[in-house]
Amino acid sequence: MAGKFISFEGPDGAGKTSVIDALVAELQPVLGDQLVVTREPGGDHFSAKLRQILFDDANKGMDGRTEALLFAADRRHHVVSTIEPALAADKTILCDRYVDSSVAYQGAGRQLGEKEVWDINTFATNGTMPQLTIYFDLPPEVGISRIESHRTDQINRLDEETMNFHHRVHAAYLRLYHQHPQRIRIIDANQPLPEVIADTKRVINHRFADLFSN
Ligand code: TYD
Repeated sequence: MAGKFISFEGPDGAGKTSVIDALVAELQPVLGDQLVVTREPGGDHFSAKLRQILFDDANKGMDGRTEALLFAADRRHHVVSTIEPALAADKTILCDRYVDSSVAYQGAGRQLGEKEVWDINTFATNGTMPQLTIYFDLPPEVGISRIESHRTDQINRLDEETMNFHHRVHAAYLRLYHQHPQRIRIIDANQPLPEVIADTKRVINHRFADLFSN
């Protein structure tokens, strides 16, 4: 794999999007079109349709395995249409959520089994994994209260799950972190945003020397 593949993970309300925006503001002027910023469920036409099905309130009662397979289908499409071509072209990819989200949300949150969900995702990605995953750690209560106070227009049906669901997601993220210590790095997201950004840049520079100049 020639390029750099970095994914970002964490519970809802961890500030992932704000951190990614800050990283992009610094990297874009330097890397130009060598920088690929992407997210799951993804942004192109195909993914937008899957996203619509996944988050439509009318589909609230969706079967858990159906949900897991739709996320995996979206991921497969994302890998072949965006991630693999970018890696082959030696680009730097910042990806908002990837396999770990499915393991945490569907595997643990929906209780489908972390190994089972990992396995369908191995099929989906054919083993294409980030070299580095930044995991923003935050107590679930803090994440949910942040969403309720700041993002009322953006609440999706996964945000609305019970507190137990979010505790299971959080516990699964911590298990993933312990299972993949080389790939996953943990950042304390329960601190002011500038510090979260600084910690993230430090961790990225440690893995990819000097991606950030300051
Ligand atoms: P989104 O609106 O993209 O925002 P954010 O990532 O900032 O929370 O919401 C994505 C939601 O989808 C989020 O609640 C996590 C969930 N999700 C899964 O359950 N499984 C997955 O595989 C992915 C990629 C996301």
